[in-house]
This record gives sequence, C-alpha cells and structure tokens, in this order.
Amino acid sequence: MEVDKPTPKDNEVLIKVYATTVNRTDCGFRSAEYFISRFFSGLLRPKNKTLGNEFAGEIDAIGRNVTLFKTGDKVFGYNDTKFGAHAEYMTMMEDEAITTMPSNLTYEEAAPITEGGHYALCDLRAAKIKSGQKILINGATGAIGSAAVQLARHFGASVTAVCNTQNIELIKSLGADVVIDYSKEDFTKINQTFDIVFDAVGKSSFGRCKPLLNKKGIYMSTELGKNSENIFLALITPLFGGKKVLFPIPTISKKDVVFLKELVENNKYKPVIDRRYTLEQIVEAYKFVETGQKTGNVVVTLT
Ligand SMILES: NC(=O)c1ccc[n+]([C@@H]2O[C@H](COP(=O)([O-])OP(=O)(O)OC[C@H]3O[C@@H](n4cnc5c(N)ncnc54)[C@H](OP(=O)(O)O)[C@@H]3O)[C@@H](O)[C@H]2O)c1
Repeated sequence: MEVDKPTPKDNEVLIKVYATTVNRTDCGFRSAEYFISRFFSGLLRPKNKTLGNEFAGEIDAIGRNVTLFKTGDKVFGYNDTKFGAHAEYMTMMEDEAITTMPSNLTYEEAAPITEGGHYALCDLRAAKIKSGQKILINGATGAIGSAAVQLARHFGASVTAVCNTQNIELIKSLGADVVIDYSKEDFTKINQTFDIVFDAVGKSSFGRCKPLLNKKGIYMSTELGKNSENIFLALITPLFGGKKVLFPIPTISKKDVVFLKELVENNKYKPVIDRRYTLEQIVEAYKFVETGQKTGNVVVTLT
C-alpha cells in the first residue's frame, strides 16, 4: 500500500532504502509467534505496520540537529524498535545502529550485515569466546549460524559446524574447521567436547548437549526451548560453577554496526545471500523465510 513519506525529526535522518531483508525477526514480529513479543510489537495489532529491520540506502534528508551524516551518504544498519525498512523511505535517529556503508559492498550485500551478525556477536561475546577455544555451531547455514561461524573464526576459535549436505562446502569456505552433516550424523552423539555449544537454530537442548561440554562449558540456543527451559537454566546453572546455559538478551548499537562493517572491510565477514526478491514480491519472500530453510539471508531490492 502507499504510505506517507516520513519526515525526519531534528535528531533523525531520512533514508531512501535501496535494499532490505526479510528475516526471522520480521517473521517473529509479523506472526507474534511468541505471545511475549506482543508486549513490544502491539498487544492486539502491530504498532508498526511496516516491518523491515535491516537496510542499506542513501541519506535523503537530515533533521536540523544531525551532525553525523549528510545528504547523499550511503548508509546501512538495523532497527528493530521502529522497523520500517520494507518501504522506500524510513527514519532513524542519528545515534542509533546506523553507519556509512562498507566501501567494498553493494546495497544488496550490505543490507544483510546486521541481523544475524548482531545476534551471533551478542552470544559469542556473552560466552567470552577466546582464541584457541573449541566451539560447535549447530544450524550453521542460518543467518545467525553463518555469521557465528565467521565471527567465531575471527575470534580465533576452532569451529565445528553442523549443517545439511548441500552446504558443506559453503560452511567450510566461511571458516569451519570441521563440518558435520546432520542428515548423516547426530552431532549430540559425537565423542568430543567443546568450550561452547551454540545451537543457532534452537533444535537441541542443554540436556542433550551436556556430554559435549567441557567441565565449565557453555550451552547457548537461539530458541527458548521446551517450556522456555533455556531462560530458567540460564538463571540457575551459572550458580553451580560447572557446565552452564547462557541466554543473553540481544542488543545492538552503532558501535556494533561499525565493528561488523570493519570486519566486512577486512574480509573477515561477509553475509551469505540466498534468494533475492523485489518489494513487489515481498509476500513470496516471507513465505520462503517462514519455511526456516533459507541459507544465510534473503534480500529485497527497492528501486
Ligand atoms: N525471537 C526472535 O526475534 C528471533 C530472531 C531471530 C532468530 N530467532 C530464532 O533463531 C533461529 C535461527 O535464526 P536464523 O535467522 O539464523 O534462521 P534461518 O536463517 O531461517 O536459518 C535456519 C537454518 O537452520 C537450518 N536447519 C534447519 N533444521 C536444522 C537442523 N535440524 N540442524 C541443523 N540445521 C538446521 C536450515 O537449513 P536446512 O533446513 O535446509 O538444513 C536453515 O539454514 C530460529 O529458530 C529463529 O526463530 C528468533
């Protein structure tokens, strides 16, 4: 539908969006899959009718107090408080999660940097991942998983990744040292231990992964688990000093976006792109993303 072009407030920039993504965050908010999300997105109906959290585009206008950007700057970033990137124009406060585009990427390549990237970054930072540690990443083909493989590798960890048969070579190319094909082997039954088990697709449980953890090993999942057990386990297990569950609340700031941009510019991180759609095809894009089977990211281009 046609909506009004937003007007930037004094501390906001108006962005002409050239590329965005449809991702699992959009799907979660669209469907209110978890009831709790309604407290953020609107109890009875969505507060923000235009979804879209990742964007890459150009500054079209600036509010009168804006000092960090000027008209014509190419920018990218993330907004999961107001959303709005599934439209030709959106606004952001200049001090939010937005910065200038990496010099080496197109709009389509820059749009998917932040969603999976910041979730992976939050989890790896919460686990205090260090060089020389061993991490197992399940769901390595997802937006979060494919970012986590690259970031864990950047932090110097040795990465064992779990994915489907057709993406083994892709996941190796992202930096995984060992790849387990989940259609041939149950990763929870392998005879090895890790400092961190990160289930980036939320298909396992702490109970099943416990044998894979070192004495003080950390289990993390992107899903709440059965009866939201991961929340309770994250509160209780750290009290005992042994194997524990972490469930960090994801956050993103301008600093994080700049951090990811610098990794991109140094060829340490590049978002994986699966399918591309136009804005007119966005319903198809949602249907595909909701299968839970995309490889990396789904990009939507706007002209
Ligand atoms: N609550 C929120 O706001 C929120 C936000 C973002 C993400 N999340 C959750 O985090 C999870 C990951 O998100 P994402 O964006 O990375 O997902 P995604 O991009 O949709 O990717 C999921 C990946 O997991 C793979 N997969 C499916 N079953 C698997 C299995 N049994 N073992 C290993 N890999 C498997 C899929 O490929 P194949 O099926 O082809 O193997 C797909 O590549 C999702 O569960 C999502 O709901 C929640």
